[in-house]
Amino acid sequence: MTLRKMKLFIPMLALVAACAGAPHGDTGRYADLDGSDWPALTSPMPLDPAMEARIGQIVAGMTLAQKVGQMTQPDVRNITPDQVREFYIGSVLNGGGAWPNMKKDASVAEWAALSAQFHDAALRTDMTVKIPLIWGTDAVHGHNNVRGATMFPHNIGLGAADDVEMMERIGRATAQQVRATGISWVFAPTVAVGQDRRWGRTYESYSSDPQLVARYGAAVVRGLQGELTGDGDVVATAKHYLGDGGTFQGVDQGENRATRAEMITTHGAGYYTALDAGVQTVMATYNSWNDVAAGENHGKLHGDRYVLTDVLKDRLDFTGFVVSDWNGIEQVQGCDKTRCAQAINAGIDMIMVPEDWRAFITNTIADVEAGRIPMARIDDAVTRILRVKMRAGLFDRAVADSRFNGQASAIDVSALAREAVRKSVVLLKNENAVLPLRADARVLVVGASADSMSNQTGGWSLTWQGTENTNADFATGQTLLAALKEQLGDADVTYSADAAGVDVAGYDAVIAVLGETPYAEYNGDVRFPAPVQHSLLHPTDLRVLRAVADKGVPVVTVLYSGRPAYANDLINLSDAFVAAFLPGTEAGGLADVMIGTHHDFTGRLSFVWPGSACSTGEHAGDVVQFARGYGLSYGDRRPVGVLPLPATPARCD
Ligand code: GLC
Repeated sequence: MTLRKMKLFIPMLALVAACAGAPHGDTGRYADLDGSDWPALTSPMPLDPAMEARIGQIVAGMTLAQKVGQMTQPDVRNITPDQVREFYIGSVLNGGGAWPNMKKDASVAEWAALSAQFHDAALRTDMTVKIPLIWGTDAVHGHNNVRGATMFPHNIGLGAADDVEMMERIGRATAQQVRATGISWVFAPTVAVGQDRRWGRTYESYSSDPQLVARYGAAVVRGLQGELTGDGDVVATAKHYLGDGGTFQGVDQGENRATRAEMITTHGAGYYTALDAGVQTVMATYNSWNDVAAGENHGKLHGDRYVLTDVLKDRLDFTGFVVSDWNGIEQVQGCDKTRCAQAINAGIDMIMVPEDWRAFITNTIADVEAGRIPMARIDDAVTRILRVKMRAGLFDRAVADSRFNGQASAIDVSALAREAVRKSVVLLKNENAVLPLRADARVLVVGASADSMSNQTGGWSLTWQGTENTNADFATGQTLLAALKEQLGDADVTYSADAAGVDVAGYDAVIAVLGETPYAEYNGDVRFPAPVQHSLLHPTDLRVLRAVADKGVPVVTVLYSGRPAYANDLINLSDAFVAAFLPGTEAGGLADVMIGTHHDFTGRLSFVWPGSACSTGEHAGDVVQFARGYGLSYGDRRPVGVLPLPATPARCD
């Protein structure tokens, strides 16, 4: 091993040792914070003097244009490799729906080839010391942008598995998928603590329980980053800092009105453990923070020095870098997509400027030259970016120098995903032990979701919103209908998407598969004062269920949803009811627990399940139908009985 590698290797040992000391899921040190102050953390990776000296020399030799270029992150749709060289760009990303040459079915080899073009270009600048590029991607439930890649259940389902060890394995598998495409940075884990199910990103949160989020966030960081320099390691991102899951009325990118104590104990929980696990990047959040109780309005947090620098970089001793969200700087008062001295001065180190990156570079150089941004802040940002790149080994090995690079087989991690599906679905009702079905059962399957890869994978699946896809776009994976046919035999499975004119006589059971249609971010918000009731939002599902219910044949309902859905009307029409959340590509895992006795239901709700259409979480007045931690296994004979059907008002005031 060369001296230089040895120099880099030493910090790795520190990281591995630090993480090794934290047994799986150890969050004890932060579980009982009283909210009086932020915990004082010490970075698990002490600054390496040799590395810091090397970084200092590089920064000292950089022009302002080269420094600002290093802080700029365009989307690959809006920049060429040669422009990366020309403008000294430090990073690129592929936002949801961006594929090589805009081919949705681009192969792993095509992804890896485009990556090589960008990475090679970055090393062809006229700089004295060439700085390698880092490419970021949203692999939030597997490498979800890539056709053929296994997609895991979304976080809301994984939270129901409550399996920290599996989460670390999912992180490792995801990192392997991502390295196959020549990418080395993942914008995950999301450590939001979802508080209001009207939020369109509820499904990106593991739980409303901060301690589960804390356990999971650390595990996923360990899985993704490994030792940071290995073939299957990527840089991870804790996001969205801070308080994205707690906005008023669940409005995405809205106002979080938490007290400082609530920010510390609830919304900060996932960061302390992720930082202890050595996470190297943090993504700033769109939301604002208005501590109404204290009369302190921090405004949009992309521009707030207190949370980005005083808390994160000083008190929590974060030595990696902060990346903005997509055009996040434009939401800061007085800023736009192309300019925001306030955000950079507050502590944003890398700016995600997907389209307007040229203007941003020009304006930011002007801001520095005019003294609106101190050069010391620019140097600190560039130092942090170079530090992460060195810790990740990018200065020593090309990203393509990995056994996974270009390997199509590396994106198939279906066995693990199927295990995750089995563990992430929750049995809410099972009257008269309708489930499990016998292996020789004859079933009628109804509901369009039974044969919809889109409804089972949700948002962030091939496209940003998860829409505009057909089953054929998912080169691998299995719908529940296909899985039932595989396990029961084609002859014993009859399918009717709309249940029109079906006769249930002669079947052992009916399986009704209902579901939301895909959405991402604010497109998934249910805006105040609208009630949140599945059958109101998706009336076809209620019609389908009514067509087969109460006809003398047991009905097993499976619901795909990105949020705990008020569904007492649907549950009352069902003999068994499975909350499947968004299971991803491997619905075979659902069939595994529904048929035979090889696998039992072990999933337990990680959010409360509402008992009325206006109950949005665990707020005063909310009705809880099933508590967090609820879920049946086959041995449970507790009847659920007929659930109350409180009137659903037109407005939830
Ligand atoms: C989005 C999301 C963020 C994602 C980023 C890049 O707006 O808020 O989670 O990582 O843009 O796609």
